[in-house]
Amino acid sequence: MPARLSSDIDTPDTETRGDGTREQWYVACTQKQLRNGKPYRATILGLNIVLFRQRSGKAAALLDQCVHRGTRLSAGKITDDCLVCPYHGWRYDATGHVVHIPSVDAEQCEPKSPGYRYRQRHFSVCEQDGLVWVYTGTGDARDTPIFRLPAYGERPWQSYFMINTFDADVGSLVQNFLDVPHTVFVHEGIFRSSSGRAMEATLACKAQSIEVVYHDEVDEIGLMQWLTNPDAEPLVHTDRFLAPNVTFCDYLWGARSGFLIVSQITPVNDRQSRVYTYIAYRFPMPRWVLRILRPFIHLYTHIVIQQDVKIIRAHREGLDNVPNFKPCNVPADAIHVGVEQLLAAVRRGETLPEAQRRERRIRFEL
Ligand code: FES
Ligand SMILES: [Fe+2]
Repeated sequence: MPARLSSDIDTPDTETRGDGTREQWYVACTQKQLRNGKPYRATILGLNIVLFRQRSGKAAALLDQCVHRGTRLSAGKITDDCLVCPYHGWRYDATGHVVHIPSVDAEQCEPKSPGYRYRQRHFSVCEQDGLVWVYTGTGDARDTPIFRLPAYGERPWQSYFMINTFDADVGSLVQNFLDVPHTVFVHEGIFRSSSGRAMEATLACKAQSIEVVYHDEVDEIGLMQWLTNPDAEPLVHTDRFLAPNVTFCDYLWGARSGFLIVSQITPVNDRQSRVYTYIAYRFPMPRWVLRILRPFIHLYTHIVIQQDVKIIRAHREGLDNVPNFKPCNVPADAIHVGVEQLLAAVRRGETLPEAQRRERRIRFEL
């Protein structure tokens, strides 16, 4: 088991620096979705962004609007490493410079064409662990590290992505992904069932993360025990929120068995998010058994996530009914409160204030 799975994965303690929501890397798509020869349109924080690949394979990202008369560039095509606007054919290079205007220099296309003084905004792009990331801020993207997916590409771990659009902002989704009490209602019988017993955990609110370590070694999740834990090892279950938009839940049974869920939440706008869910697992079973089980594991996680998509929609509809809703928090909502406090700090461009950093035991009934 890689040591980092159970350790504290906290991002560096950065100082105050403007809007921490925008000064971030967000997943725009998977590497597979960004195909050669075809622009890809992504919306992040209300901005439409067009991504495209150059011949070298390198990805580029521009604001999805032609500087000539405003047409959506993602409706265009890629020619000679340039993105071509579909309206009058202005061509853009990877840094957003206009390198060819057909109505001005009909024949030529060269770096110093008359159009070069026109430029669209471009974004830093990075490809890592099967995903394409875009930096949406105006600061130096190199100051912000990109979260590495645990166990990605490591044998004998198997992994895959699921992509879903949720009708919620980042905060509501982080709360959902770290919410154990909802599992016995929304995912009853499939993920967890109500047992009438108490569950205890240690909640740690840190500068830029929240960590919940559960003290319930016999807790069971829906994946059959004979598959996940044939050696009857104690379960180590840890949930984390890594501000501003990543949750990481892991279930580990000894050194040979584990199930990890990482959710990368890309805010589309204030009301919608695109979630790239990364599932990684290793179970102490022969390879041929795991090969047979693979479609069932995919189906199982797909069903669970669709149940969340549905409950989040109902949550959205309820919130929309009357504005300025104030929740009635009970002790089981301590994690939700911690998430809200940390996200409020991120929006101020700060880390969690010292007074709110704490570690304490929480308890709720299941
Ligand atoms: S609007 Fe894009 S080239 Fe005219
Ligand atoms: Fe759920």
